[in-house]
Order: sequence, then C-alpha cells, then structure tokens
Amino acid sequence: MQVDFSQMNGKKVLITGGLGFIGSNLAQRLVQEGAQVTIFDACLDPYGWNPANIKEIREQVQFVRGDVRDYGLLSTHVLEVDYIFHLAAQVGREISMSDPALDVAINCDGTLNLCRALAAHNRCARVVFAGSRGQIGEPLYTPVDEAHPQHPTDVYGINKMAAEKYLFLFGKIYGFPVTSLRLNNVYGPRCQMHHGFYGILNWFIRNAMHEKAITVYGDGLQTRDYIHVDDVVDAFVRAALCAETNQQVFMIGSGIETIFLDMVRGVIAGVGKGTWVHVPFPPERESIDIRKFVVSFEKMARYTGWQPQVDLKSGIARTVAFYQKRYSEYITE
Ligand SMILES: NC(=O)c1ccc[n+]([C@@H]2O[C@H](COP(=O)([O-])OP(=O)(O)OC[C@H]3O[C@@H](n4cnc5c(N)ncnc54)[C@H](O)[C@@H]3O)[C@@H](O)[C@H]2O)c1
Repeated sequence: MQVDFSQMNGKKVLITGGLGFIGSNLAQRLVQEGAQVTIFDACLDPYGWNPANIKEIREQVQFVRGDVRDYGLLSTHVLEVDYIFHLAAQVGREISMSDPALDVAINCDGTLNLCRALAAHNRCARVVFAGSRGQIGEPLYTPVDEAHPQHPTDVYGINKMAAEKYLFLFGKIYGFPVTSLRLNNVYGPRCQMHHGFYGILNWFIRNAMHEKAITVYGDGLQTRDYIHVDDVVDAFVRAALCAETNQQVFMIGSGIETIFLDMVRGVIAGVGKGTWVHVPFPPERESIDIRKFVVSFEKMARYTGWQPQVDLKSGIARTVAFYQKRYSEYITE
C-alpha cells in the first residue's frame, strides 16, 4: 500500500508531549513533510523533555509550554488543527504505582480534557494516540496481536487502556477520527539519558559509554520487542494519513523477540565497551515485570503498508553515534 506523505504539506499539527523522545522525533519528520507543527509540552520532570530535542527545527515549530491537565489552555490549541498526536503522558510504570493519582491526572484526566476540547471546538481533527504494550500485561499467547485481552500489571497500563477507550468513545460520538498505536519498547536518538525508569536500552547505552556495569535483574532471559524510534515515527505518520485506521488499534513493534541479555550484549558491542552484572530483582519491579513479549505488526502492515526498517544492531549503532556526537546535550553528570 502506497501512502502519499505529501498530504502533510501545509497541515496544522499539534503534538502533545512533543518536546519528549518520540514526540520530538515525530516533530522533526513532520517539519520535513512541510507540516505546521505546534508542540504542547509541560516540561515535567523526570520525563524526557529537552530543548535540544528540537534544536534543528526550533525556528519552524511553535512551542507552547502547556499541561494537558489545563483544559482551558489545551482547548485554545486544538482550534483549526488537522492532526493531533497525543503523546503527553506520565510514562513511568513504577511512578504509576507509587503515585497513582498523578498517573490518573495526566493520563486519564489529561486525555479527557483533549476529548472534551475536540468535542467542543474541533470535530474534524484526526487523533493518533500513543498507547502501550503495558495495556496487555503478561501475554496469554505470542506474538501479541490487537485481539489479545488486556490485563495490565500496573496503574500506567490501566490508565493507558482507559485513555484509549475515552478517545474512541468521544471520537465515535462526536465524529473525530481516532487511532491508537500500542507501542513496544522504543529506543533511539533523543530519548532521555538521566535514569532507567523507562527507555532502558538508551539508559544501558549511557552505562556502557561510562563503563558502569549494566545491572540485569534476575536471569535476564525475559524477552522484549525493541523498535527504533524512526519506525515508530513512520507508523504515526502513516496512521494519520490512512483514513481506514479510524477507530482502530495497532500493535507497533519489530515482530522480533529479543532476549534481554542479548539486547545488553548488543549495546556493549555497539558502544565498544562495557560490562553487565546480574542483581536480584527489586521486589517493586519484579511484581510488575513481564516475562515474555513480542508482537505481530501484520495489521499495521495491511492497513498502512508500514514495515519496520531498522534492525536492532544498526539501530543501536545509530543511537550510539547520536549520543557520542551530542553528549553534553543529553548526558549531565
Ligand atoms: N518510549 C517507549 O518505549 C514507549 C512505549 C509505549 C508507549 N509510549 C508512549 O509514548 C508517549 C511518548 O513517550 P516518550 O518515550 O517520548 O516519553 P518522554 O518522557 O520522552 O516524553 C513525554 C513528554 O510528555 C511531556 N508531558 C508529561 N506530562 C505532561 C502533561 N501533563 N502535559 C503536557 N506534557 C506532558 C513531558 O514533559 C515529556 O516531554 C507516551 O504517551 C508514552 O506513554 C512510549
């Protein structure tokens, strides 16, 4: 299936959470396609916002420091927008357990604010939502597809599930198109490098660069599906441009099941140095950990022609090269 990316030329786009990892990579791509991009981001810590993420396109985008919990401000920025990529979120799984009210406020109330703003002010905007593999929980079967039941193991997964359902409900009733991409473990340039609460592959790159031993919880034989951010960005743009994706969910991953320890070995090979050490699982992490995960992206391929292009080895190499070049913008001691 062919997608005409030039349809983005001149379109008005709002990216919530656009100063973060995935949102800023998406902004770069949309500017290349000729879109008029507004980034709406609250710059909250410990999340991945970083002015360096948009330094190449700073003059071509509008930046609004705004919080999705602020209905009044958010509603003024949905007016006359063609596409909304809703990525602003409380993204830490462990944070969602220690501070569930924060997760509800940002992920549920914030998304409801977007739903209400669109119902009131713009029923034509197309919304693409960043859902999560966290909605699924421990798989009953693999590869996980869109029909797989959702049994989240943390508050974050439950609220992502709720946010997705709010969007589909409001979209159906008020007529604005909605698509949800349930993302797997995304890695690549522009991910925060301050901590390992999330974005673990990037965090391990930092550890290896500093020759600090990478800590592997338990036996390291759990599996994950790692997907490069360029592929994720391509999925967002395709989902927005293909009308058939309305009211649909898509699993977004590489389709390759990677053993955690093999990812660690790949990081060390890519950086050219580093070691790892096994440590016992911290109890708060073990209780929400998933043993096995890999998805089927067949539905996304069928609807939009999307195929992951970046394999793990070259994706790690590109990521390492990015941070080596822009070290001081991302890594502060
Ligand atoms: N990175 C992954 O592996 C992954 C996997 C599954 C889903 N996702 C989803 O993708 C989206 C983007 O994640 P990311 O990895 O780029 O994270 P990130 O932390 O780099 O970016 C999130 C951005 O959202 C902003 N933000 C947080 N709360 C906000 C609020 N109340 N109002 C406005 N802005 C707010 C932060 O300041 C940050 O810039 C999130 O919705 C996340 O749940 C990411």
